[in-house]
Amino acid sequence: MEIAVRKMERIDKILSNYGGVSRAEAKVLLKAGKVKVNGEIVKDSGAKVSEDDNVELDGRKLSLRKYRYFMLNKPAGYISSTEPEPGDTSPNVISLFKKEGIKGLFPVGRLDKDTTGLLLVTNDGELGHKLTAPCNHVDKTYLAKVKGHLTEDAIQAFEKGFDFKEFTSAPARLEILNVGSNDEAIVNGLGTAAVFSTAKVTISEGKFHQVKRMFLKVGCEVVELKRLSMGKLVLDESLKPGEYKELTENALSF
Ligand code: URA
Repeated sequence: MEIAVRKMERIDKILSNYGGVSRAEAKVLLKAGKVKVNGEIVKDSGAKVSEDDNVELDGRKLSLRKYRYFMLNKPAGYISSTEPEPGDTSPNVISLFKKEGIKGLFPVGRLDKDTTGLLLVTNDGELGHKLTAPCNHVDKTYLAKVKGHLTEDAIQAFEKGFDFKEFTSAPARLEILNVGSNDEAIVNGLGTAAVFSTAKVTISEGKFHQVKRMFLKVGCEVVELKRLSMGKLVLDESLKPGEYKELTENALSF
């Protein structure tokens, strides 16, 4: 018979690992009666708990899982790079997760500051590496609004691939959804209405500004870009920009 052995850890260590507080702060919170284990107040910082225990810090239930996975609907105006452009003081997407108090969270792959939509945020470095490694070819689908008239020729050009300075793009799937004029130009007093097209594009790579650069190759400038999916993970459209939800590991079997 196999007996499952749960690793027991000191409560102050658990609070600092999963509650976003230092060990010293944990001790103060424990003394103040702010910590409950399975519904009972615990004051002894040496008390041991396991991941099966229900730990509450100041009324907030802590998840004792080591790896956490979140689906974020990235809002425009937030950066996802750890190295922002010099002088750019825009907030980082990780700031949206402050209240979770989780150390080591990072976004899997990058989206431009003005790009919205699906962004996976985790503290699981191995999964992050797996999903972004170029050899793994995880498909990413974007919805793009572009300035200009997309034609059948563009579909073929995306399929064929484009030559860029540092790489040649792998075949990409372009699905044109709509081509039409937009009255915004008239409303804005710019004279004749501009033509805008919307399309879905699926790429298997993730080079810098790749989608925008591909559209420029067919003479269209991207004015809005939203990521809809990444592998099997599809953006939950009920999430408003800036909102996120926690995922289980099962949802991430790529
Ligand atoms: N391609 C782009 O050009 N920008 C993004 O944010 C993502 C893919």
